[in-house]
Amino acid sequence: MAILEAAGVSKSFGGLMVLRGVSLTLHEGELRGLIGPNGAGKTTFFNILTGVLSADSGRINFDGQDIGSYPIHQRARRGLIRTFQIPQPFSGMTVLESTMTGTHMYYRAEVWSSVLRTRKEREEEEEARAKAKEILRFVGLADRENALCANLPVGEQRLLELARALAAQPRLLLLDEPTAGLRASEKEALKEVLLEVNKKTTILLVEHDMRVVMSLCSRISVLSYGELIAEGTPEEIQRDPKVIQAYLGEGAIAT
Ligand SMILES: Nc1ncnc2c1ncn2[C@@H]1O[C@H](COP(=O)(O)OP(=O)(O)OP(=O)(O)O)[C@@H](O)[C@H]1O
Ligand SMILES: [Mg+2]
Repeated sequence: MAILEAAGVSKSFGGLMVLRGVSLTLHEGELRGLIGPNGAGKTTFFNILTGVLSADSGRINFDGQDIGSYPIHQRARRGLIRTFQIPQPFSGMTVLESTMTGTHMYYRAEVWSSVLRTRKEREEEEEARAKAKEILRFVGLADRENALCANLPVGEQRLLELARALAAQPRLLLLDEPTAGLRASEKEALKEVLLEVNKKTTILLVEHDMRVVMSLCSRISVLSYGELIAEGTPEEIQRDPKVIQAYLGEGAIAT
């Protein structure tokens, strides 16, 4: 079953057409790669899917509903969750607190800080804390629970981004270059985590590291200058002349 159907999505910034009629269908359970040279429009596409930007034209169907006019939080509540290309650490918070904020939409965390809390609210906070701890163990950040987010090295900030996204219980997880800035060993560890996540969650993975994409994804879609120029298995993508042409000068498609 299709969980996401984007049809004919276009977007311009001023005179610059950044997405040109992009149509992409994702099936439940997929781990799809979305690649393309710098500036191809990958992040813009994520921004449109999540409601940060609105498309000039086109339709977005998620889980059987046309969500094109829904605000960000309504899309998130339905399970459309993303991480950011540049990690956005909540500076004053600990890793555990930050992960707990991911659960906001399920546990009314805004009331936690109030003095007059009901027992139910205290129970919700405890539930969110337990859930966040479980997720931190899962991504490998258990021993960093009490560290301040802002003090984490980049590898751990990426894991925290993922933890916060997982706390929101995604049905479709949009990952924007999750391995950027990671060391080879950290990438391997993250790959294992993503495969585990994918057992329950559909993933659309924007990634520049071809080794990572080609080893994780069974299908890959390729954007170039805002146009979807190819879709296929890693083998098909690597020998597609249009893809090779798009990457010439980047020298990045070879694995
Ligand atoms: N808010 C904006 N205003 C104007 N131009 C923008 C804006 N956001 C993105 N662009 C332009 O749109 C194009 C696509 O950018 P986008 O960030 O979507 O590319 P990308 O595929 O994510 O690239 P990268 O791999 O470098 O992250 C670029 O030319 C970029 O400069
Ligand atoms: Mg980008």
